[in-house]
Amino acid sequence: MKHVYTLADLRDPAFAEAMPNAKLAVIGFPIKHSASPQMHQAALDEAGIDLQYIRVEVEPGDVDACFVEMERLGFIGCNVTVPHKLDAMAQCDELTDDAKALGATNTILFKEGKRIGHNSDGPGLARAIFEDFGKSLTELRVLILGAGGGAGRAIATQCAREGSPAIYLSNRTVEKLEPIAKSLTEEHGAKLVYTLSTDEKDLINAANRADLIINSTSLGLHEDDILPLPVTALSARHRIYDAVYNPPVTPLLAEADKLGAKTSNGLSMLLHQGANSYSFWLGQEPNITAMRKGLG
Ligand code: ATR
Repeated sequence: MKHVYTLADLRDPAFAEAMPNAKLAVIGFPIKHSASPQMHQAALDEAGIDLQYIRVEVEPGDVDACFVEMERLGFIGCNVTVPHKLDAMAQCDELTDDAKALGATNTILFKEGKRIGHNSDGPGLARAIFEDFGKSLTELRVLILGAGGGAGRAIATQCAREGSPAIYLSNRTVEKLEPIAKSLTEEHGAKLVYTLSTDEKDLINAANRADLIINSTSLGLHEDDILPLPVTALSARHRIYDAVYNPPVTPLLAEADKLGAKTSNGLSMLLHQGANSYSFWLGQEPNITAMRKGLG
């Protein structure tokens, strides 16, 4: 078994012969760092399901061609990651409500000649918050840092769909937030939405009113990054979620831990979006403990 397959590999008759059980995959460009295979394989093995989950590197523009090959080979489905989430959506025959709401697909099911596009990131986030903090988004007023980015916007959309009682959107480039706030209210049923820049006072005020703070800025990826909000905005009653999981303890989480706040990182989002995709394909829940172990 190779670490990474290509479209040419799928087209090669030798592939079907050598890998008859490869029926699930993740596609992206590049794809070699994806942790999805070890996570899904662990759950498949644990359940005694004789399937293999592989990585396929697919160049931009080749998503449809890849799906054609997967359908020919009898694949059950695949995960889709950067940069293909929009292209994959365009290649689908049907979309789930989650895919429609988030405007992208990260999961495809090949069923009876149809391509069904789903998005497990939204449900995965909701599940992760519930598992990690023991409260659902329905009960939590949320401050989202970096809400103007791709990840932040998806998180905000899910908070609105889950019925968070108040959503505070912060972004360095504050102009990006108006259309997002409008869409949350008009299309996703958000109750109260406020927008703010990264001004210290505004962040402290919003944090005072929020129960959950989610960092979806890229700050925290590097050890010497500044915090995405002033430390004085944090308190022991907060739940702090960092979408970053590498490093596992970002400077934000370290400061929040010191204050006695409940903290968690993006690994649980990865895990629960994976679990949601698995159920979507196979119609059964995966063993989460096995999946978590698979992530190492
Ligand atoms: P993704 O789509 O993966 O979320 P992105 O679109 O690059 O990534 O978004 C990164 C987010 O981090 C954005 O909200 C960005 O703010 P801008 O919209 O103003 O660019 C935010 N971000 C990145 N570096 C930042 C910094 N030094 N301070 C504050 N916010 C930052």
